Amino acid sequence: MKLVLLLLAATLSAQQSPVRILVAYHSDTGHTAKLAEAVRKGAAGVDGVAVILKKDSDVSDTEITSYDGIAFGAPVHWQSVAADGKRFLDRVAAAFTAAKLNGDGRIAGVFCTAGATSSGKDLARLEMIAAFLAMRFTIVGGVDREGFGTLGPQATTGPGAPGVDAAAEAEGRALGERLARLTKLSRGGSVKR
Ligand SMILES: Cc1cc2nc3c(=O)[nH]c(=O)nc-3n(C[C@H](O)[C@H](O)[C@H](O)COP(=O)(O)O)c2cc1C
Repeated sequence: MKLVLLLLAATLSAQQSPVRILVAYHSDTGHTAKLAEAVRKGAAGVDGVAVILKKDSDVSDTEITSYDGIAFGAPVHWQSVAADGKRFLDRVAAAFTAAKLNGDGRIAGVFCTAGATSSGKDLARLEMIAAFLAMRFTIVGGVDREGFGTLGPQATTGPGAPGVDAAAEAEGRALGERLARLTKLSRGGSVKR
């Protein structure tokens, strides 16, 4: 009986502790940072969720495994994810390996910006998704303005392009909201921490 009560108390406290979401990004000239802020806003609108927005270089190796959900964004360089973005994903994998953990029960989503409409955005997002899948995260995609699912929010930022405009920010917020809501839902299960 005592054991049942203890287990019940532990379950209730796990359910009441806020779901922790990290929105991390690499950005050299500010475009991906702007989209990251939209993702943060979307996640912050979900009750019971604590959201932290950080540059990749400000995320310590030791804190990486403390989040229930991670949204990560990076620019496209040479038609694929920028090397600094890949480096962050490598750090996430190394942190999980060192802690003898994996992404089971955790959720990830990705986003990117690029100068041109069709010059690596799909590949960059697929590369980031593939890395999170290899770590056993569950992936959540974005939602476009017609309601179709996407690989994740994106924006075209080159000369004459819209940049991180209202539509891109809306998709960023939609990813943040979905990531936070679905991460919260997944917390119903028990996950090794
Ligand atoms: C070294 C380098 C390579 C780039 N390669 C591409 C590319 O292959 N395709 C593309 O569409 N944009 C490319 N871009 C443009 C960036 O992806 C774009 O400016 C992006 O929005 C920058 O994001 P940031 O402001 O967050 O750094 C490149 C930019 C740099 C600096």
